[in-house]
Amino acid sequence: MFGRRGTPQTGGAEPKAFGSGGTAQAKPQPAAKAEPAPAPVAKKAEAKPSTKPKSKPKKKEAQPAEEPVVDAKSKAEAAKLDEIKVNVFNDLMEAVDLAELSALTPEQVREEINDMVSEIISMRGLVLGLTDQQQVIADICNDILGLGPIEPLLARDDIADLMVNGPDVVYIEVDGKMELTPIKFRDQAQLMNICQRIVSAVGRRVDESSPICDARLADGSRVNVIAPPLAIDGTALTIRKFKKDKLTLENLLQFGSISPELKTLMEVVSHIRLNTLISGGTGSGKTTLLNCMTGHIDPNERIITCEDSAELQLQQPHVIRLETRPPNLEGKGEVTMRDLVKNCLRMRPERIIVGEVRGPEAFDLLQAMNTGHDGSMGTIHANNPRESISRVENMIMMGGYNLPSRAMREQISGAVNIIIQASRLRDSSRKITHLTEVVGMEGDIITLQDLCVYEIEGEDSNGKIIGRHKFSGLRPTFWEKAKYYGLESKLAEALQFSS
Ligand SMILES: Nc1ncnc2c1ncn2[C@@H]1O[C@H](COP(=O)(O)OP(=O)(O)O)[C@@H](O)[C@H]1O
Ligand SMILES: [Mg+2]
Repeated sequence: MFGRRGTPQTGGAEPKAFGSGGTAQAKPQPAAKAEPAPAPVAKKAEAKPSTKPKSKPKKKEAQPAEEPVVDAKSKAEAAKLDEIKVNVFNDLMEAVDLAELSALTPEQVREEINDMVSEIISMRGLVLGLTDQQQVIADICNDILGLGPIEPLLARDDIADLMVNGPDVVYIEVDGKMELTPIKFRDQAQLMNICQRIVSAVGRRVDESSPICDARLADGSRVNVIAPPLAIDGTALTIRKFKKDKLTLENLLQFGSISPELKTLMEVVSHIRLNTLISGGTGSGKTTLLNCMTGHIDPNERIITCEDSAELQLQQPHVIRLETRPPNLEGKGEVTMRDLVKNCLRMRPERIIVGEVRGPEAFDLLQAMNTGHDGSMGTIHANNPRESISRVENMIMMGGYNLPSRAMREQISGAVNIIIQASRLRDSSRKITHLTEVVGMEGDIITLQDLCVYEIEGEDSNGKIIGRHKFSGLRPTFWEKAKYYGLESKLAEALQFSS
């Protein structure tokens, strides 16, 4: 599966590509250095580029214009180490049987490689310090076993997203900010090989004939690969790191994403079983918010979650988690979100939670919401509450349901009670910008009423947005329902009503 023999297209080219493209590699050094010390990455991004191979004219402009003087000696040393690494790697490839290695555990492989590399180094009569030798071994192991130069980044918990834009450009998102890292792949072949390895783990393949692929890493991180010719400047690999410690409403309050009153309102909404859509752009915090909202579900409820890849972490004891499955190599065996949601209905759920509604399953979810599965929730990709409604309409139409538009809107307005909008503002902060109630229909139009809206008031001198969550003062139509659940006073407190 790994190495050159298992992956014919890209794998076969690898050792050769290593020899030719890798001679002046900047990669091993920064890749390893990035691991223990998260902070200096940005600085290194400026300090390192001069070690970039000069043979690659493409993407030159991506380099910072002014380069700090890099110590010529350490530069030469780095180049020498790279050369040694290339040679050792090539020798290793000659000597090792990758098929045999693949039968071993990663620890055994590491041990094996360790022994062989030490042997190769002494056979070649190379002079190498202990740290350098360990470095070479670690890099080679990462290449063979792991995800090559990005392996150290994956080990870091502070990184939310990892974006590879072709072999020479790797960005990370740390604390909501994009940073360019000094990490580079040897060449497109290495990058493609690593992508191949990732997607083959979920039984898929990515190549010129099927250049788009979604996958998941063993730790739950989500992966998307889009390869040339669709990605013009080399394969784009995007990894959304799986966060082990999910945020809570309390965290969102600390971050200023919500106000204390909005927090109370959201807790009430979740507890009294209102059907909720969470709307937002990519990375705006929809899944996080959905996860937070589920924290206030009664532990006695039977909940079924349907996701493309399991991200939600429900704390309740009675939860069944379902996950879709992409088709296999022959294009068979696909299980869609729609299949899952439909099946859910036969599983006696009390609530259905759909990680991301993006297709015809929208109709099934609405049906579920309309037929007694109150408190069902899902996220949807839209920029405001009104748009999320038209997205649902579109999804239903695309699903081939031949409903007159009025009937469809009646379905929607009958099913969805609340839309919560998550947004990522221009200063990169994430805010809940709307909590909107679906009130009913007026003629052919679905009526929405905003209960709470985030109002931007300006920016401070650092470009940080100043604003506040403003309540409209309208009385929600779910007032009676809150009363039924004994949460009337909590709702009044949230809305700052004297009740
Ligand atoms: N309110 C918030 N404040 C700060 N970071 C947040 C907030 N909401 C989400 N995040 C972080 O943003 C990233 C993307 O969130 P996620 O919920 O996966 O977005 P989406 O589902 O909309 O694509 C995650 O790393 C998450 O921890
Ligand atoms: Mg999401």
